[in-house]
Amino acid sequence: MEALLGARLTLILSIFVFLSLITTSSSQQIQILNAERRIDLTSHIVTVFLTLKVENDGTAPATEVLLAFPPTQADHLAVVKAQAAAGKRKKRTYVPLDVKPTELPDAPNGTKYFIISLVNPLNSGETATLEVFYILTHSLEPFPAEISQSEPQFVYYHDSAIILSPYHIKQQTTFIKTPTAKMESFTRVEPTNRASTELKYGPYEDRPPYSFSPIIVHFENNNPFAVVEELVREVEISHWGNLQITEHYKLVHAGARHKGIFSRVEYQSRPSLSGVSSFKHLLAILPPRVHSVYYRDEIGNISSSHLRTDYRKSELEIEPRYPLFGGWKSTFVIGYGVPVQDFLFESSDGKRYLNFSFGCPLAETVVDKLTIKVVLPEGSKDPSAVAPFPVEQHLETKYSYLDVVGRTVLVLEKKNVVPEHNSAFQVYYTFNQIFMLAEPLMLVSVFFFFFVACVASLHIDLSISKR
Ligand SMILES: *[C@@H]1O[C@H](CO)[C@@H](O)[C@H](O)[C@H]1NC(C)=O
Ligand SMILES: *[C@@H]1O[C@H](CO)[C@@H](O)[C@H](O)[C@H]1NC(C)=O
Ligand SMILES: *[C@@H]1O[C@H](CO)[C@@H](O)[C@H](O)[C@H]1NC(C)=O
Repeated sequence: MEALLGARLTLILSIFVFLSLITTSSSQQIQILNAERRIDLTSHIVTVFLTLKVENDGTAPATEVLLAFPPTQADHLAVVKAQAAAGKRKKRTYVPLDVKPTELPDAPNGTKYFIISLVNPLNSGETATLEVFYILTHSLEPFPAEISQSEPQFVYYHDSAIILSPYHIKQQTTFIKTPTAKMESFTRVEPTNRASTELKYGPYEDRPPYSFSPIIVHFENNNPFAVVEELVREVEISHWGNLQITEHYKLVHAGARHKGIFSRVEYQSRPSLSGVSSFKHLLAILPPRVHSVYYRDEIGNISSSHLRTDYRKSELEIEPRYPLFGGWKSTFVIGYGVPVQDFLFESSDGKRYLNFSFGCPLAETVVDKLTIKVVLPEGSKDPSAVAPFPVEQHLETKYSYLDVVGRTVLVLEKKNVVPEHNSAFQVYYTFNQIFMLAEPLMLVSVFFFFFVACVASLHIDLSISKR
């Protein structure tokens, strides 16, 4: 009995050792010859370009490359993309690569990983250049956390001077770009250089896997920290020619909180000095050919909005009733109609599909939670959505007047949405033409009954008046 148990244990142990050998060997066979990272801190949405020249040091071909992030950063990642670059400068071509979050056992200090799948496996001794792009939201921390109307806004950015990686990096450099040259302080990890709006960390040579060197950059950033805590976009399809869009916004200024009283006089008389981090205009990019545009808040319609349209897009500049300072919120609704033939098509298998833009129409905005409700015409069946990134989805039913069976609503949800997500998504569904007649038939029958009722009451009236 004991011998059996022992044998089992050794078997389990050897499987375990074998598995861990596989995982370590797959990460050990890669080394990074050169890494260049460019961090852009000019807006409140942090974008990072990382160029990696990787080499397969092992004996077996490598099909995957791992990216590592500290857990605090991983929570704020909105987008991670990668592509492989081939060819020299002028003839350079790019192949998009699949990137997925993944878990590894024994991740040091809670490191989070993404796995890049290579289209062409990297043979022993070969090198490849990978370009990684990622976006971080809510990663600039206002300090001081509260400012008065006359003060500019300063923020902290935390990162590591040395790129976190499960691989050995032979040589690396990091550049950090700030919106202005006004920098309170930054951590030095020699060599560190500063030239106007750019900080340069490195080059650093031969850093072993999981090297980390925390840095803090404290700098001025007065860009509008526009965050939509919740956005609900309703897209209602009518086969009678219109696509009606209604968008409910809960907007907040996520920068340093405003302290003290707000003086409109000072705000208007010294616009370059007063409330530099506040915002009073928002730009919404809408489709071309929009009509019946409105913009209203709790109080009513706001007419101070300007609409410019051309054949590519429409721009709606909206102005809330008061400028938004740090911590202030604004709740409003934007509505518009567009011709349905611009967005509704028929697929080769006879299904209908809506091809519309995902994301938030407001420029330079982070959306914490986005919900898109696609209201299909009555009688539509089997809806399915296709989006270029993972979204949660479920079905609801909506009733409006003249509806007999109600309309199917496909609800799509995504958290942490940035302008990079403003790409097209599709909703496919089947539709029976007979339902096109449902609404007119309803109308006709309503009129018919109304007519009958009128005639009936007339008869009663007549019979009364005869008396
Ligand atoms: C994990 O974090 C601790 C404390 O922050 C640090 O001393 C240690 O070097 C880190 N280990 C690794 C492998 O990064
Ligand atoms: C607001 O504007 C829309 C579109 O122009 C209009 O349909 C609606 O009646 C207006 N509402 C109010 C309260 O003025
Ligand atoms: C959807 O529209 C975009 C442009 O807005 C276009 O590039 C794309 O090909 C369309 N997709 C489909 C499936 O029609």
